[in-house]
Amino acid sequence: MASKLARTLKVDLKMGLTAVLSTFVTVALIGVMPVATAHEGATGIVKERMDRFKASKTSLQTMKQALKTEDWTVLQTEAEQLNVWANEMVEYFPEGSNQAPSEARDAVWQDWDGFVRAVQAFGVTTQDLVSAVDNRSVNEATLAFKATAQSCKACHDSFRKE
Ligand code: HEC
Repeated sequence: MASKLARTLKVDLKMGLTAVLSTFVTVALIGVMPVATAHEGATGIVKERMDRFKASKTSLQTMKQALKTEDWTVLQTEAEQLNVWANEMVEYFPEGSNQAPSEARDAVWQDWDGFVRAVQAFGVTTQDLVSAVDNRSVNEATLAFKATAQSCKACHDSFRKE
């Protein structure tokens, strides 16, 4: 009898441990999951600027294609859109808007002048891009396109988390 009870206890204990472990794993997974879907949690100005940046990425992809086919109408629309964004971007970074899930580095606000300069550099390259497209010059537009993509990266290197 006693040994049967001991066996049962042992099984109970084992099951209990498994349950605790699986709860632990579940909790650990839940703890990790929100990170993977973090962008969906963005609200307000953080979400707005993330959406604008996502649109910028799409613009670059669209322009890369349009440069190949020399689709000037598409190039003009996208170049102007990026230039408008360059002129509005600083307004999308109000003080204290680096809350999760924002990927903006604190450096944006700690080195505000540097950030503004990076935005202005982006403004210059997108303005060049608009002009090159106006001139219907594939060579000029290709160079300005590369400079624009470079200015996205330059800002990210300093002001966006990896
Ligand atoms: C002057 C700085 C600056 C420039 C220029 C800039 N970015 Fe960003 N970008 C940022 C910062 C800061 C973030 C992080 C924003 C946040 O999460 O709050 C970001 C985020 C992004 C994201 C992620 C958006 C998301 O859903 O989380 C993409 C994509 C992106 N940028 C693409 C681009 C492209 C493409 C360009 C150029 C056409 C560009 N950016 C130009 C600073 C810049």
